[in-house]
Amino acid sequence: MEKIKLEYYGNSINDLDDYQEKIEKAEKKLRVEYKNNIGWLDLPVKFMDVDKIKVVSNKIRDNSDVLLIAGIGGSYLGSQAGLELLRSYFNNNLEIIFIGNSFSSDYLKEVLDYISNKEVSLIVISKSGKTLETSIAFKFLKDFFINKYGEVSYKDRIYVITDKNNGALREMVNKENYESFEIPSDIGGRYSVLTNVGLLPLACAGIDVEEIFKGAKAAHEDCNINSIYSNYCYQYALIRHYLYNNNKQIELFGSYEPSFRNFGYWHQQLFGESEGKEGKGLFPIPIIYSTDLHSLGQYVQEGPKNLFETIIKVENSKQELIIKSDDNLNNKSLHQINNVALEGTLKAHTLGGVPNIVISVPEISDYYFGYLVYFFEKACALSAILLEVNPFDQPGVETYKKEMLNILENGK
Ligand code: PA5
Repeated sequence: MEKIKLEYYGNSINDLDDYQEKIEKAEKKLRVEYKNNIGWLDLPVKFMDVDKIKVVSNKIRDNSDVLLIAGIGGSYLGSQAGLELLRSYFNNNLEIIFIGNSFSSDYLKEVLDYISNKEVSLIVISKSGKTLETSIAFKFLKDFFINKYGEVSYKDRIYVITDKNNGALREMVNKENYESFEIPSDIGGRYSVLTNVGLLPLACAGIDVEEIFKGAKAAHEDCNINSIYSNYCYQYALIRHYLYNNNKQIELFGSYEPSFRNFGYWHQQLFGESEGKEGKGLFPIPIIYSTDLHSLGQYVQEGPKNLFETIIKVENSKQELIIKSDDNLNNKSLHQINNVALEGTLKAHTLGGVPNIVISVPEISDYYFGYLVYFFEKACALSAILLEVNPFDQPGVETYKKEMLNILENGK
């Protein structure tokens, strides 16, 4: 398989030997100090049992028009990214709807109305089992399933992915006997795409999860090479760190392929939640070009110089469209034009003082999705360690929950 490639366009970075030392220290810290949070780190080289995933996903595809996936944050952003990237834009047999990621009654009621005449299955995903957005949606859905399929049979259409031993959802599984899948205790939500959390929804959509795993395995090998000169994962973490230390506060992350939009949201959560603490961290913003050049392009080119861009360049498109016209576009493929837009924008933005990191992937495929997921997970953990923050906690997220509970319980 062709490899991915990383290129950096910006001020040259000196003291590379210091950087080698920094990353070696970070890698060591990751493996020793955070040993209880790195179940994902060597996951691609462990035996993966996909038999149960295959059986359940085949069953869901056979008996459902619509699959509902209830989860928030790391419990859905990865599968949402994979689904958008790897499925067709329009022709999919199984419709997949995400729920339980907001408190919107308008949205949930519309979903309930929409599915009333359809055959439906539900996957509920929550590691802690106590996230309010997801558990409230599950309450409504459970009533809906009981009404539709009856007190006994409704359970055949509900699947739960949660912690192996702990939490309210695991207790519910034990009491009510839903079919369940485990989230390993040493893998947190945003690092869980390559576990049942991401793989079951993707398999339900007919995506080849073994191929995803093969890509992740290749990334595992490449991202463990102990040299900043040949390890692009190290380079990505270090360049971000360098830029952060040189007055960049915002990372615009995206691609010229619209199917990367949700991948950008996954990246945003992974990096935002891992790094944004103790007053530190880059602010990650997902972008799709050239679309967003017509909204943000002006700001990027001429606004404050506190940002840089990370662009996923897709070398080859799946579909080829050749332009016929009597100007200089004649006989060019649309994908060629897309990559020319990338080259032109790269020149313009770097001239405008916006450094760029370009990560090139040969094509969009299951394999490269798995590769990129692992690549960014590892780069993220190392980036956070370079910043001297814990890559695996999110204490700040608890504050809104506490305030919300206070209002619910005490009215203030
Ligand atoms: O990355 C994380 O750990 C979080 O974003 C969680 O995934 C999110 O808060 C949902 O938590 P849970 O899976 O416990 O419902």
